[in-house]
Amino acid sequence: MNILVTGGCGFIGSHFIEYFLSTYPEGKVTNLDALTYAAHPDMLKHLDTLAPDRYSFIHKDITDPTLKNWIKNTKFDALINFAAETHVDRSILDPDSFVRTNIMGVQNLLTVAREGGNIRFVQVSTDEVYGSLKSDSPPCIETTPLDPNSPYAASKASADLLVLASARTYNQPVLITRCTNNYGPFQFPEKLLPLLIANALENTAIPVYGDGKQVRDWIYVVDHCRGIDAVLQKGISGEIYNISSSGEAPNIEVIKKVLTLLGKPHSLISFVGDRPAHDRRYGLNSSKIRKELGWSPLFSFEEGLKITLDWYLKNTEWWKKVRGKDYFKYYQANYEKKFGSLTSAMKEVSS
Ligand code: DAU
Repeated sequence: MNILVTGGCGFIGSHFIEYFLSTYPEGKVTNLDALTYAAHPDMLKHLDTLAPDRYSFIHKDITDPTLKNWIKNTKFDALINFAAETHVDRSILDPDSFVRTNIMGVQNLLTVAREGGNIRFVQVSTDEVYGSLKSDSPPCIETTPLDPNSPYAASKASADLLVLASARTYNQPVLITRCTNNYGPFQFPEKLLPLLIANALENTAIPVYGDGKQVRDWIYVVDHCRGIDAVLQKGISGEIYNISSSGEAPNIEVIKKVLTLLGKPHSLISFVGDRPAHDRRYGLNSSKIRKELGWSPLFSFEEGLKITLDWYLKNTEWWKKVRGKDYFKYYQANYEKKFGSLTSAMKEVSS
């Protein structure tokens, strides 16, 4: 299978490329990526030597209107879209870039996939499109109504609707995956887990939004990639597939667990102002992909966490380099004035 992966230098996309090329010795990947702030081509550098004839990179943005002409001269079997602005806090501060990439970009890619021979189109979406789940509600299924709360979630829900509209209007072969919170090596240290690990290793305060009792459903990134691959290979066109590992846990418990595993004091925890429109709980029912496509997760939260902590401990240079001081500057300039106070420890690092 010869696939076009968009956003393959991001956290999940890069893990997918590595998974795909190592699983299918005949598989070929073209990775199209705009190399925004969260891209980390480091993860894929070794492919230039390991699979030079099966991997190629194109530096382009998914909103580029010329892509539909470029694809006419290619022969891909499928397009899998990972490209997205993904961080909820950033979407609150700068929603426009989310509309541009996550909505306009996906609309452009749908046209690109049609012009490229009406190839199979897989949209990598998120459980956030279902909105916040009540504490006593059962986990969301694929037909749970969309009820997004943040600009990020609204942009992903909009994209899902455009994808489904293309299936109905143009008979386009599309599939949508919706997954829970991912974690693993190479995740940009703005998301809770890598931020927590990096701050803890630097003995810096861990900002916990609100009361910290929000629930997230955790999945190891490789299990997510395996789920996307199952959908790519065996999924039915026009269908949506939830992917989850049934790992629901309150943030504060996850934070305490990580601090304990790292041998760091719980006094690093610092409660700060809450995220506006903060979703209280996410939880997904993934029986459909399990029953229909035979997928199930391989990694427990404990196993995935161990691999992840180990990686961040061994790769301090990487996360120090990618977040640098900009991360703290970003928080100081934007976050504090909108959501509440930063801890004095974070102020010290940013000065
Ligand atoms: O559920 C899937 C989604 O998970 C993906 O679609 C998103 O792209 C991804 O960003 C993630 O969204 P969340 O908002 O759940 O992830 P985040 O890591 O930003 O936050 C996880 C939880 O931790 C959330 O309840 C907010 C909280 N949090 C986060 C950060 C960064 C804190 O308490 N402190 C923090 O510093």
